[in-house]
Amino acid sequence: MFEELQAAKADAILGLIAEHRNDSRAEKIDLGVGVYRNAGGETPVLDVVKTAERQLLETQDSKAYIGTAGAPAFNTAMQALTFGSSAPVDRLMTIQTPGGSGSLRVAASLLLRARSDASVWTSDPTWANHVPLLGGAGLNLKPYPYYDVQSQSVKIDEMLATLREAPAGDVVLLHACCHNPSGLDPSIDEWRSITDVVVERGLIPFIDMAYQGFAADLDSDAFAVRHMADRVPEMLVSTSSSKNFGLYRDRVGTLSILAADSATRDIVYSQVNNAVRTIYSVPPDHGAAVVSLILNNDDLRAAWELELNEMRDRLREMRALLHDALRDTAPNCDFSHLVRATGMFCFLGVTADQVARLKKEFAIYMVDSSRINVAGITADNVGHLAASIAAVL
Ligand code: LMR
Repeated sequence: MFEELQAAKADAILGLIAEHRNDSRAEKIDLGVGVYRNAGGETPVLDVVKTAERQLLETQDSKAYIGTAGAPAFNTAMQALTFGSSAPVDRLMTIQTPGGSGSLRVAASLLLRARSDASVWTSDPTWANHVPLLGGAGLNLKPYPYYDVQSQSVKIDEMLATLREAPAGDVVLLHACCHNPSGLDPSIDEWRSITDVVVERGLIPFIDMAYQGFAADLDSDAFAVRHMADRVPEMLVSTSSSKNFGLYRDRVGTLSILAADSATRDIVYSQVNNAVRTIYSVPPDHGAAVVSLILNNDDLRAAWELELNEMRDRLREMRALLHDALRDTAPNCDFSHLVRATGMFCFLGVTADQVARLKKEFAIYMVDSSRINVAGITADNVGHLAASIAAVL
């Protein structure tokens, strides 16, 4: 049965975790996988999550299955967090999913059931797993221009020109905020222009929001979702609680679908739940139960927002720290995009060979594209980092 199989390639992002762990050099730095790290280089459980988990331990009285859609209290709270207070709830459905990836996978199933000949347009570049995950599910993917390497900015005109040529009914995958991997998002005006094109062309927005709260604040980061929800008849939104609740391994996310009317919404809801049953049957509960406790309690919610703000502020500070250090070690190079980007990521802007040298000679780990996770920077390691980058430039 298996004798024809070849070993699969290590994942471009997750493969770095083991490589970094096995490196015995004391000065090693991990700028690879997108997990938050504090000033001590750790990814601790949020205090508010610990509090909610203690409450859950005391109060949870069953581990019986939850349904395919997950817990209603979680779904309602997450829908409000995503779409805000003016959400068009009569046309909207939200289900609990195993992380953002589970959400994307269910969305792919729904799209294939609804219109298997539609293409999904993805930003060039996009999250390294978007293409294998959605393409592997059977969707036809096409790239739209997004990041300009020379000017280190969003190619908004080219992006809009490409989308203007997309056939009606095609799907456009967008990153709500903290674009992964570039860290550069459209401005508010640019989001309005993207929405105009989506409406004019009859395209279906599919927004991936994995970093809500990591760019500016919870509401501003959801601007694209809420603005489009006001203007389009149909859309899909995937969210993840991995980063903003630090619940990476607990797998918490949602899939929301906006339909043209409530009758269609109900049909879509039945199809989505049917798809879930054929993929993972029911979502995991623990992390979503924690999020639900936090979002449905004013004190816990306020405590969460404080911890989220701390994470965001640290990421911003680390961007500035590296930017300033590089001004000293590599004064002839422009790294201003480091501080223009938001969230966890940006491109360092070095070649794959230079990335390989940084790993081999300086024990610095990042994705081959030179995407860095700025959470891996600390006041203690920034000197080694900036000197090493200067050495390979
Ligand atoms: C990343 O982009 O590093 C994160 O979203 C983690 C992952 O699963 O790739």
